[in-house]
Amino acid sequence: MHRLVRTVLVAGLVAAFSAGASAATAPADAIKYRKAVMDAMAAHVSAFVLINFGKVDQQEYLKSHANALADLGAQGKVLFPAGTDTGDTNALPLIWKEQEQFNKLMAQLETSSAKLRDAVAANDKPGTAAAFKTLGESCKGCHDRYQKKDD
Ligand code: HEC
Repeated sequence: MHRLVRTVLVAGLVAAFSAGASAATAPADAIKYRKAVMDAMAAHVSAFVLINFGKVDQQEYLKSHANALADLGAQGKVLFPAGTDTGDTNALPLIWKEQEQFNKLMAQLETSSAKLRDAVAANDKPGTAAAFKTLGESCKGCHDRYQKKDD
């Protein structure tokens, strides 16, 4: 590759990275992002249920949904930054008043989704059922207390 081309390419990459790193995320975008991640988890739960309870014969994909849930579950802790309590959100302000309790629920999401991933990988059926139940309780437990209900 010509040196000039290489230099231009590298400069472009550096600019792209530093733009990404230095731009602060706008609260409205942070809210959009957390909803997208939450929606993605819900979609993987739905697909997982269809396969796991025998409605759809795609057993070989159970693992992809469990892996995705574990990856997304591990992101939970970054989804509620300060300043995202108002705007187009159903997150209750209580989240930022009870950070410790809320973070505990997020940690449970991470643990239970990791357990589900491991049980599916080990082809452990009872372990999968138990982990899925715990994961569902983790979603519901948090929503019951911290998500505004549609009225
Ligand atoms: C520790 C708390 C917590 C956990 C755990 C949690 N959620 Fe949420 N979830 C929220 C909050 C708070 C909102 C509202 C977010 C907003 O409107 O900004 C939300 C919103 C959602 C939404 C609506 C997104 C939208 O487009 O408005 C879905 C769907 C969802 N969660 C699914 C799930 C699923 C599935 C799980 C479990 C696998 C889960 N959540 C686990 C707190 C949690």
